[in-house]
Amino acid sequence: NTGAARFLPERLTLPELRRAAAHCEGCDLYRDATQTVFGEGPSQARFLIVGEQPGDQEDRKGAPFVGPAGRILDKGLEEAGIDRQDAYLTNAVKHFSFTLRGKRRIHQKPTVAEIEACGPWLNAELALLKPEMVVVLGATAARALLGAAFKVTQHRGEVLELGEALAVATIHPSAVLRAPDRDEAYQGFLSDLRLARRSCS
Ligand code: URA
Ligand code: SF4
Repeated sequence: NTGAARFLPERLTLPELRRAAAHCEGCDLYRDATQTVFGEGPSQARFLIVGEQPGDQEDRKGAPFVGPAGRILDKGLEEAGIDRQDAYLTNAVKHFSFTLRGKRRIHQKPTVAEIEACGPWLNAELALLKPEMVVVLGATAARALLGAAFKVTQHRGEVLELGEALAVATIHPSAVLRAPDRDEAYQGFLSDLRLARRSCS
């Protein structure tokens, strides 16, 4: 396993990428997961929204953000005025990672090696989509896009430059769900999404 690069298609288009990613063996996560969960959304979307990796429900359904974290994200996008037709949703890592506890599959944070192995898919999505604004959800997406030194807790809610695009980092919607004060965490998340919305032409 030496990463996803050698699985990239010759012709770089979003549909070709998605087809090729379905057969990726760039790290070991493909072995136990159900399927690759590739990004979804219109190719003209101005917003690229990047999460961590698919969860249990995403793994079963094959689509990003269709579980509990997705419901928080949907609510945030709607309240921030970011149209779903204007948003492409994806993850830093495209396969679900878990440990078994009895029959339950417990989500496991991806390792740095897995984030790096999967990077070619995310970089190709970014290069093809050419979004105006990248919304970086949590530490894993930040590691993938903004580097090891970037701290979400320090730099969330700032407008950053990411190549030709702008970017705003915020907490992951799962962190909103786990926060001791969920309302406060959600309001912070929402204000970062609103900043991303306002900073887009
Ligand atoms: N959490 C993520 O980071 N991505 C998903 O697609 C679902 C949950
Ligand atoms: Fe390939 Fe990424 Fe899946 Fe690893 S997690 S097998 S690099 S698609």
